[in-house]
Amino acid sequence: MRHLISLDDLQPEETQEILAIARSLKYDFERGTREPIFAGHVLGLLFEKPSLRTRVSFEALMAQHGGNSLYLGDDVGWQKREPVCDFIPVLTSYLDFLVIRAKHHQDIVEAARYSSCPVINGLSDKSHPCQALADLLTVEELLGSLEHAVIAYVGDANNVAESLVKICCHLNVPIRIASPVGYQFDPSWIESLQSAYGKNAVAQYANANSAVAGANIIYSDVWASMGQESEHAQRKVAFTNFQVTESLMNQALPGAKFLHCLPARRGEEVSAAVIDGPASAIIHQANNRLHAQKGLVAWLMEKK
Ligand code: CP
Ligand code: NVA
Repeated sequence: MRHLISLDDLQPEETQEILAIARSLKYDFERGTREPIFAGHVLGLLFEKPSLRTRVSFEALMAQHGGNSLYLGDDVGWQKREPVCDFIPVLTSYLDFLVIRAKHHQDIVEAARYSSCPVINGLSDKSHPCQALADLLTVEELLGSLEHAVIAYVGDANNVAESLVKICCHLNVPIRIASPVGYQFDPSWIESLQSAYGKNAVAQYANANSAVAGANIIYSDVWASMGQESEHAQRKVAFTNFQVTESLMNQALPGAKFLHCLPARRGEEVSAAVIDGPASAIIHQANNRLHAQKGLVAWLMEKK
């Protein structure tokens, strides 16, 4: 049995396998085929934070392929009503898959220890691996292949960025990150990735212009993530020069596309002209959550 708590749980070739299944299921789905590949299977969604895309895409993908899903909010009492050592074994005795969205990454790690079914991280403060799978499926579709993709991520070195960097390393897509000093990844983490995947695999900058030069995908996320609301005002100041504007897009390769995991704040991390303009592929990207996660659930089912 396998889990996906972070992309470290996958070998690079396994990331490729998941995306290959996703591609094939998407191809069939778009031609009207909805095979009941998840028939009789139940996926639980244990969520501590709000969600549109993650929740609804998992619920929809189970329904489309003959399975079922259960959304479990605050009332089930995770970490409140009874100890995790009772809660998770009981819950997972009813389920085939468990998606968890948690405030603290370590709580997903702990839940997986007690789980009798595969656990999927549906976002934590540290990682967002499901988002990264959909992102690279989208990049491949936008550019025709990943061969010449170069991604620039402009913004906070957060959960979304962490998983994006890791999946780019798995798939040999160079990634450049631009974040203000104080909101960057630990340089020793970047160096360890460079030793493992090559010097060109990942680079970190303290200004947006350096990161976008030579990139054909520009990616951003909110400056203050869920749980960081009290830092919002301070972050708005720190990130002033990290807004993706038309002028920044013009410094990337001609025809560069804009991606964002959503939800977005127009006028903060991205201007309305960019996110609502011709370079933006945000709806295509959000729709791919459905297809990428089908690939993931089908792959986890095979590994059971
Ligand atoms: N991108 C993403 O995970 O969106 P939700 O928070 O709506 O699930
Ligand atoms: N970084 C954002 C992503 C939301 C999908 C957050 O954690 O709130």
